[in-house]
Amino acid sequence: MKTPICDFVKKYAESDALRLHMPGHKGVSFIGAEPLDITEIDGADSLYEASGIIKESEDNSSELFGCPTYYSTEGASHSIRAMLYLISLYARERGERPLIAAAMNVHKVFLTAVALLDLDVEWLDFDDREGYLSCVFEAKKLDKFLQTAPKKPTAIYLTSPDYLGNIADIKAISAVCKKHRVLLAVDNAHGAYLRFLTPSQHPIDLGADICCDSAHKTLPALTGAAYLHISNTAPEIFVSEAKNALALFGSTSPSYLVLQSLDRLNAYLADGYNERLSSLAKRVNSLKTRLVEAGYILYGNEPTKITLATKEYGYTGTDFAKILSEKGVFCEYADPDFIVFMLTDEIGEEGLFRLENALLLMPKMSAIPTNRVTVHRPERVMSIRDAMLSPCERVATVNAFGRVLAQPSVSCPPAVPIAFCGEKIDEKVVSTFDYYGINELTVVKE
Ligand SMILES: Cc1ncc(COP(=O)(O)O)c(C=O)c1O
Repeated sequence: MKTPICDFVKKYAESDALRLHMPGHKGVSFIGAEPLDITEIDGADSLYEASGIIKESEDNSSELFGCPTYYSTEGASHSIRAMLYLISLYARERGERPLIAAAMNVHKVFLTAVALLDLDVEWLDFDDREGYLSCVFEAKKLDKFLQTAPKKPTAIYLTSPDYLGNIADIKAISAVCKKHRVLLAVDNAHGAYLRFLTPSQHPIDLGADICCDSAHKTLPALTGAAYLHISNTAPEIFVSEAKNALALFGSTSPSYLVLQSLDRLNAYLADGYNERLSSLAKRVNSLKTRLVEAGYILYGNEPTKITLATKEYGYTGTDFAKILSEKGVFCEYADPDFIVFMLTDEIGEEGLFRLENALLLMPKMSAIPTNRVTVHRPERVMSIRDAMLSPCERVATVNAFGRVLAQPSVSCPPAVPIAFCGEKIDEKVVSTFDYYGINELTVVKE
């Protein structure tokens, strides 16, 4: 597959061009990447009005994903804002006020988008949660919810895969959405690679109308590389307004380094990635089997993520991560209960072997009682938008009782809100923040 953006930039970098345009480094190496870091010069196209090399590259990507696909250089966060804007446009075009029914383990950017776009949200609270990071619910529960909902939502919004590696049954959920004529939007930030499994497990192939992927999370792309995908059967306005939606929230100086990375990725994906992924999934699966034999408790069903419930093995996730980091093994995420490893083909046989060794050499200790916090919804006293746009202040979590949460107050990873903006902080919420070591909250100024 061709790489028009990379080819153009390479040719420019190799010419003796006198760069009298931005960026100010003029192609001189400081960190090393500058010669390839350009801006919208003649022939370089323009991301939000693409008609040249960027359009050609996005078309290649659309072919690979089997649906209209648009680039973002500002992460799935950017695509999520665009996705919610498009859903909102669709509702407004029909003369309706947009209502999103969302599973509660949203990434915090969902809340910022809701605030900026003035959307109404209903939380789907019928999932069987083991903690605040996962929302696993059956399609038949969604069916029942939609049958009895006093106001039909414009869209159902799901995060799948979630941070702990659970993939929702998108096929069954999308069938329910179609039955009730409700759109399905999926935060697939962790699942770009799902398209390349056999058969594909990508949300768009399983019936979602729209989804975002972080290319940089599970594919070999630079940080910030992301996609917005739209189903071939989605409302027409999604495609006609996709670029405007991304432009609304994006920088006018998208990174050409990230664009080259997305462009190069097309060639990588077209060149036997399915086979490499299938082989990786098999190797990870057999490693998982050996870990179970060694007494580990695994969590989630994602083929390239390994999540260990560490307390059963005698450690908190955070202590476990610290011990591993002393051996030069760094995880994606750890909390009191879990540790998460994200694997791609790029770690090679040797990397998998190193991980296995490190895990199998870890002595099994007596289990620590698991007292995972169950999440509850405190009283809502303000809308998400009013709370997020209100003057705010930071207070110690222990002093936040009775205050109204203004900002999610959770950092990356996993950036999944424990309480939502506009909710009144009660004792249970204080103790949950405390459990996750979050000592300061941003609350509405009184
Ligand atoms: C579930 C989920 N959605 C969205 C995002 C945002 O993605 P990005 O970092 O590509 O902006 C993240 C980031 O960690 C995430 O975990």
